[in-house]
Amino acid sequence: MYFATLISLLPLLASAAVVNKRADSDVGSTTSDVYPPTGTSVNSAVFPGESKVGYPGVTVTGVEPAAIQTAASYPSNDGQSSSYPLVVDQPEDNPSEDIDITKYWGNLSPWYSVPSSSYGLNETSPLAPEGCSVTQVHLLYRHGARYPTSGAAPSTFAAKLANATKQNGGFKASGEIDFLNSWTYKLGAELLTPFGRLQNFELGVSFRQQYGHLLNNFTETSTIPVFRTESQDRMVKTAENFAAGMFGVPEYMDQVNIEIMIEASGVNNTGAPYETCTNSNVPSRGSIGSTAASKFAVNAFNGTIERLQGQIQGVNFTSTDMIAMLQLCSYETDALGYSSFCKLFTKEDFENYEYYYDLSFYYNNGAGSPVAAAQGKGFLSEFVARFTQTAPIADNSVNSTLDNDKTYFPLNQSIYADATHEVILLDTFTALNLSALFSSGPLPVDKRTKSSFKASQVVPFATHLTIQKLSCSDTSPSDQIRFILNDAVLPIDQSYPGCQYNKDGLCSFDTVVSALQKRVAEIDWAYDCHGNYTATPGNDYNGRAPR
Ligand SMILES: *[C@@H]1O[C@H](CO)[C@@H](O)[C@H](O)[C@H]1NC(C)=O
Ligand SMILES: *[C@@H]1O[C@H](CO)[C@@H](O)[C@H](O)[C@H]1NC(C)=O
Ligand SMILES: *[C@@H]1O[C@H](CO)[C@@H](O)[C@H](O)[C@H]1NC(C)=O
Ligand SMILES: *[C@@H]1O[C@H](CO)[C@@H](O)[C@H](O)[C@H]1NC(C)=O
Ligand SMILES: *[C@@H]1O[C@H](CO)[C@@H](O)[C@H](O)[C@H]1NC(C)=O
Ligand SMILES: *[C@@H]1O[C@H](CO)[C@@H](O)[C@H](O)[C@H]1NC(C)=O
Ligand SMILES: *[C@@H]1O[C@H](CO)[C@@H](O)[C@H](O)[C@H]1NC(C)=O
Ligand SMILES: *[C@@H]1O[C@H](CO)[C@@H](O)[C@H](O)[C@H]1NC(C)=O
Ligand SMILES: *[C@@H]1O[C@H](CO)[C@@H](O)[C@H](O)[C@H]1NC(C)=O
Ligand SMILES: *[C@@H]1O[C@H](CO)[C@@H](O)[C@H](O)[C@H]1NC(C)=O
Repeated sequence: MYFATLISLLPLLASAAVVNKRADSDVGSTTSDVYPPTGTSVNSAVFPGESKVGYPGVTVTGVEPAAIQTAASYPSNDGQSSSYPLVVDQPEDNPSEDIDITKYWGNLSPWYSVPSSSYGLNETSPLAPEGCSVTQVHLLYRHGARYPTSGAAPSTFAAKLANATKQNGGFKASGEIDFLNSWTYKLGAELLTPFGRLQNFELGVSFRQQYGHLLNNFTETSTIPVFRTESQDRMVKTAENFAAGMFGVPEYMDQVNIEIMIEASGVNNTGAPYETCTNSNVPSRGSIGSTAASKFAVNAFNGTIERLQGQIQGVNFTSTDMIAMLQLCSYETDALGYSSFCKLFTKEDFENYEYYYDLSFYYNNGAGSPVAAAQGKGFLSEFVARFTQTAPIADNSVNSTLDNDKTYFPLNQSIYADATHEVILLDTFTALNLSALFSSGPLPVDKRTKSSFKASQVVPFATHLTIQKLSCSDTSPSDQIRFILNDAVLPIDQSYPGCQYNKDGLCSFDTVVSALQKRVAEIDWAYDCHGNYTATPGNDYNGRAPR
């Protein structure tokens, strides 16, 4: 009797749960909300794995971590740290209030929840606003913690110390840096670290928990989703760890098609546009931020250089070495669980280190870059394509062979999840015209200044943009959209003409889509990526080349 009543109520309860998620009803399951749908499976002939696709990039393994012997303390899972199980020290100058130094590492920070109030929305959260339900979600996310990219500053620093050991009778360190006497370089290159795997796995778990109900749409049509990534080893592992978190092990291997797009010079790939955008690597265009950051560093660490130089003979420290040692603090922590380098630096050093990254990213990939919007145009076009269910035009990094084929670029999914690099995420935010990130204007290049743009909040490891499409009962029209970056809901009233201030960051879906179509039209890939022009740091170019 009880069961019969319950069963007859099920369809009603199920639809009620979709309309108002606050209803909290325990509806059990029907055949339409069991995932995976029966009869579906991954087609590995159509979606081949990593070894088949190739182009894994550099894959240098490192030394095994041994934090149980090297860390200053044992990690505590007490909710106090945003980056369990990493262990970090307080800064050298022991500030009166404890700080979490991992939040000052720019793109080497582990991602952390950013409050919406950072961008001006004080009273909202990613939870669906009252009266709204999420009908579709688009996730763009970065790989978790990795080793340094090939040839980055830490390995050069290690080589400098090794050189000193071979020549001039070696070096001798004492005091705070006496650990350098027996220190060896232990990092590999490019690969995801164990902590990095955790970050992507956890994103997948969290995504399933928040948005699992949207899998019912696939069940209804007996399909499984296509999630995309690039061919570099860490990118493939990123998508796999995300899928493992979302679907379980070994279920993920048969419940989602992972599409691996080739990342190689000259290949059209929206996840790696620098492979076809020539100006991306030209010093006076795509990398003006790197130059500005290095220049800033020259004056930022003099006191620290003097202090540390007093404790070493046989090596002369430069500002480049300070950045390398700060990066070793970040990379060793992210890869080995702890680093002795961190406690060499003061709170102000960490603030300058963060600003170094703020400059680099604002001018390489943010509003201050002349090629950021062009490089982000690929993903922007693909978002618009999915919003309008029309294949994108390939006048940018879009690969039309893939995007004109609904097998590789489906247009009707309720859930999308693409993995890429932090530079491309930021290029895409610039192309999306998410101006709230850049609202305080161009960053001064000579002096650290408070700014709305903080690299550790925008491009950290496992950073992720979540675009929610919602159906709301109290708005007109009912279809709404909003943009959420690392849990911060972004205001979009300044981004898209026709959007008003809304305390939940909502705007009409159609209004935003037409603004984005205008944005696609105004971004000139051919000129910005291949034109002959000179850009300089200090400007807000809205991500586009000066004319
Ligand atoms: C939001 O909160 C910040 C401080 O957290 C405050 O400065 C700002 O005025 C508030 N904005 C609004 C619109 O309430
Ligand atoms: C190491 O020494 C060699 C030979 O003197 C020099 O060419 C090289 O640049 C040095 N490398 C570093 C990182 O200092
Ligand atoms: C999406 O389109 C494919 C064919 O292109 C179709 O098989 C599938 O049922 C559609 N899914 C939805 C949710 O409409
Ligand atoms: C498009 O992608 C496919 C598959 O990754 C690749 O083989 C092809 O070279 C790409 N096309 C272009 C024009 O780069
Ligand atoms: C810091 O040191 C550099 C290199 O020695 C020097 O050029 C610069 O003037 C110094 N800056 C400050 C602010 O003292
Ligand atoms: C360090 O700088 C001093 C002074 O410029 C110089 O005499 C010395 O040779 C340098 N040492 C090394 C190892 O480069
Ligand atoms: C590759 O990109 C170029 C430049 O945007 C474009 O002209 C070409 O059509 C694209 N090729 C494919 C197969 O998408
Ligand atoms: C997913 O299913 C829900 C409930 O039927 C519906 O409201 C929503 O529009 C669907 N989403 C997509 C993208 O089809
Ligand atoms: C982008 O944002 C700026 C201001 O933040 C605005 O003036 C402009 O109209 C926007 N562009 C588009 C295409 O919506
Ligand atoms: C680019 O422009 C500069 C300045 O106008 C000019 O000197 C240079 O020759 C041009 N380069 C190319 C490749 O056209």
